[in-house]
Amino acid sequence: MPLHRTEILAATATGIARAAQLLRDGKLVSFPTETVYGLGADARQGAAVAAIYEAKGRPSFNPLIAHVHSAEAGRRYVDWNETAEQLAQAFWPGPLTLVLPLRAGHGISPLVTAGLGTLGLRVPAHPAGQALLQALDGPVAAPSANPSGRISPTTAAHVQAGLDGRIAAILDDGACGVGLESTIVGLAGPAPMLLRPGGLAAEDIEAVLGKKLVMRDVQDPLTAPGQLLSHYAPGAPVRLNAAKAEDGELYLGFGPGGGDLNLSASADLAEAAANLFGHLHRLDALGKPIAVAPVPDHGLGEAINDRLVRAAAPRG
Ligand code: TXA
Ligand code: MG
Repeated sequence: MPLHRTEILAATATGIARAAQLLRDGKLVSFPTETVYGLGADARQGAAVAAIYEAKGRPSFNPLIAHVHSAEAGRRYVDWNETAEQLAQAFWPGPLTLVLPLRAGHGISPLVTAGLGTLGLRVPAHPAGQALLQALDGPVAAPSANPSGRISPTTAAHVQAGLDGRIAAILDDGACGVGLESTIVGLAGPAPMLLRPGGLAAEDIEAVLGKKLVMRDVQDPLTAPGQLLSHYAPGAPVRLNAAKAEDGELYLGFGPGGGDLNLSASADLAEAAANLFGHLHRLDALGKPIAVAPVPDHGLGEAINDRLVRAAAPRG
């Protein structure tokens, strides 16, 4: 593919206007959200969306999340319902994606939904991401801005390391605060379903709904499209639930007791989530096997462990 010079844009009025113009022109722009950096294209332009897959080297067309600046903007594309309203009121803008039935005449490229009859919608809270969505005033399809199968980026430097020369620009506004991809809830079926644990704890969603989320069936390609097991993978092997490092391993700690790097010395799960991908990037750069301390499986720990299991999975 032709190489671009990737522009690094500051999150100023000028930088945001430039980023919006590039999206309008059908170019790829990486932008910050509070979860991870996204690799954005105008969701209405099929050729631009196709270029996302090319830049990431994605093996197949997985459905992408459409980012919008508000629930009002999102409602134009989907059949909205009461549960969506309840969750949007409680958690948007924020690290939550809602999957809803597509509405007729929606104008979203079928490449975004991979031909499904549903659309994943997200309203991110990050000020620079929000400003970009408002400047474009249109839907932005964006997976995480990493080459396929690699660790998700939580800084502009991570994006540059993976995609420099393959995308038009990176809107740089520092590190992402949440550090884990959004929690995805399916609202197109008979009951709200947790499709992917993420930066919003399932317990918080259940508290608002007043009931448990249905768990997705990992065997069902319709409820879990594109959820490859080996994903978020460092180059070196990863060993989980390790009490300590063996000879030649690096240790990623959690809680008191140190490690080469520590997700959170005070065992704070939000801090651990924010550090997870950045620490994996740093240890991965050292090229040695990584042993990871056990992380409790409640709250954000559920999403952290989901990502760790994928990082440790056999490579396919
Ligand atoms: O935090 C995030 O969600 C980040 C930022 C950039 O917004 N995005 C992200 O995108 O993680 P990506 O492409 O890496 O993951 C999107 C996930 C996929 O696993 C896909 O299966 C699911 O969303 N998804 C998207 N649309 C869907 C749909 N219509 N039905 C079911 N799952 C869907
Ligand atoms: Mg991703």
